[in-house]
Amino acid sequence: MKDPLQYEGKRVVVTGCASGMGAAAASILVDLGAEVIGLDVQPTEVAVKSFVQVDLRDKASIDAAVVEIGVPVDSIFSIAGLPGAPFSDIDTVVVNFVGARHLIESLVPSMSSGASIVCVASNAGLGWQQDLEALMPIVSTEGFDAGKAWCEANPAAIATGYYPSKKIVNAWVAWRGAQLMEQGIRLNCANPGPTDTAMMPTFEEQNGKALIDAFIGPSGRRSSAAEQAWPMIFMNSPRSSYVAAEAIHVDGGFLGAMTTGQIDINEIMGGL
Ligand SMILES: NC(=O)c1ccc[n+]([C@@H]2O[C@H](COP(=O)([O-])OP(=O)(O)OC[C@H]3O[C@@H](n4cnc5c(N)ncnc54)[C@H](O)[C@@H]3O)[C@@H](O)[C@H]2O)c1
Repeated sequence: MKDPLQYEGKRVVVTGCASGMGAAAASILVDLGAEVIGLDVQPTEVAVKSFVQVDLRDKASIDAAVVEIGVPVDSIFSIAGLPGAPFSDIDTVVVNFVGARHLIESLVPSMSSGASIVCVASNAGLGWQQDLEALMPIVSTEGFDAGKAWCEANPAAIATGYYPSKKIVNAWVAWRGAQLMEQGIRLNCANPGPTDTAMMPTFEEQNGKALIDAFIGPSGRRSSAAEQAWPMIFMNSPRSSYVAAEAIHVDGGFLGAMTTGQIDINEIMGGL
């Protein structure tokens, strides 16, 4: 079978293309024959078709990137992110959700039925369903300015930055993904477990290595960036045409073990 994932000639936007999962996804997509438009705040070494420098903390920068990206857009991989501290809570939630959403929503009008979007959240967002009522006020804000203003007005709700940002992304994908599917545009979410990328040392420094290691689960190891990129590539492929408003947990079995009582999340969190 030629081009089994059907990326040949597709115009694909990848944020975070300079490092880690974004660089892995961009590189694989180039190999699959896609026209990759890579976005990041720092330059990339991946041989993308075009590179657009963007700062997802800055609305004007995102708006300029949207113009540079042009039309049409077949798929978006929203992978860029911040780990929380040492970055501020506001910057973390703006990059991981508010700015990412602004970029996606600005590109949606140039997408047709059959187009697809995947957002990277994290296993750090586990339990978002229980917090849905508290998450919906930010999830349902309209636009960059309103999203950022909500964060500024509700510092307690976004305290620590990273965990809330990943819950918000999961909730937004479920909510907005259901709406976009009515236009045939699929929006899904990936929740990676611990992965060896440039972000990992910061996670370990801020949370302690023991806590990060406790999230490894049954696989007994961290994933590679490519092991995170491939499931996203599959979700955004037309082959996944009935997968929408969904979250995939790419965590080496952690969620399965937790859900069936083989891992006690309270013990992990409480013991540290
Ligand atoms: N590494 C892990 O263990 C892990 C686990 C779960 C989820 N994640 C998530 O995976 C995604 C990718 O992270 P990674 O692990 O590949 O880390 P990484 O640090 O290697 O890559 C993150 C990329 O985001 C870019 N970025 C940061 N701020 C930006 C901004 N303001 N504007 C534009 N680009 C910006 C960086 O330049 C970098 O290229 C992130 O959303 C992260 O939260 C990572």
